[in-house]
Amino acid sequence: MSAERPANHGLSRHGLRGDYTGVRPDYTVEQDPSRYTADQHDRWRRLYARQIDRVPGRACEEYVRALGALDYEAGIPRFDDVNRKLARATGWQLVAVPGLVPDLVFFEHLANRRFPVTFWLREEAEFDYIVEPDVFHDFFGHVPMLFDPVFADYMQAYGRGGLKAEGLAALPWLARLYWYTVEFGLIRTPAGLRSYGAGILSSPGEIDHAVRSPAPRRVRFDLRRVMRSRYRIDAFQETYFVVDGFGQLFDATAPDFTPLYRELAVLPELSADAAPGEDVLVPLA
Ligand code: PHE
Ligand code: CO
Repeated sequence: MSAERPANHGLSRHGLRGDYTGVRPDYTVEQDPSRYTADQHDRWRRLYARQIDRVPGRACEEYVRALGALDYEAGIPRFDDVNRKLARATGWQLVAVPGLVPDLVFFEHLANRRFPVTFWLREEAEFDYIVEPDVFHDFFGHVPMLFDPVFADYMQAYGRGGLKAEGLAALPWLARLYWYTVEFGLIRTPAGLRSYGAGILSSPGEIDHAVRSPAPRRVRFDLRRVMRSRYRIDAFQETYFVVDGFGQLFDATAPDFTPLYRELAVLPELSADAAPGEDVLVPLA
């Protein structure tokens, strides 16, 4: 099982945890660092210690560099501390939210270089598996990548694209792009395949599965194929898409998607384990 079902817009908030009373109109709240208990800080430290050991050789260098400067080991981070560093690096800001937020709200935040971070931490019983994004998934998985200038611009472009797609009934296709890049993306580097997806990087089991296991398919990034590919939210991914760099991701997604959405409307979907041609498969080593 996947240890994480990552944040994803396009999912209903119905039945999800989180207290939405008292949120601002943009669904944000203030993080109150004094409300975390000693137990919660201790749980954070154990989650961190387990995962940090698995990062070398599995995460991309942009991620490793940013994570190293984040001082996450002491306990649940303060939003204001991380925001000072992020402002200097790429101008992004984290905003605290009680959980998943509606699509349009999510896109509006991204389009303005604000990343919504769930402020609460999983319970002890969820140490290995949690179905919703929590503060560990968001800080450990997503935040380091916001320090990379090109990836940071891609995230903003995604938000703008979401606002535009909303009127075009195109959200399911855009959600797949988010899933297969921001959450489960792989990058090919001279040192080998590495992860940049938050769903992989915050998961104790999937981090090895994604870049070491012979089981899943790894396919060269292709925008059409990504958008046609269904995905699983309840198990390790069966297919990952591989970019050669974040510039490729940015450039491939820069053109206006309006004609692409028209094309996709008449193309069949692909299953999460669809077999691609040998020529687009990326070997493990
Ligand atoms: N270029 C896309 C469009 O016109 C916007 C986008 C960029 C969407 C990056 C996703 C990621 O809709
Ligand atoms: Co996520």
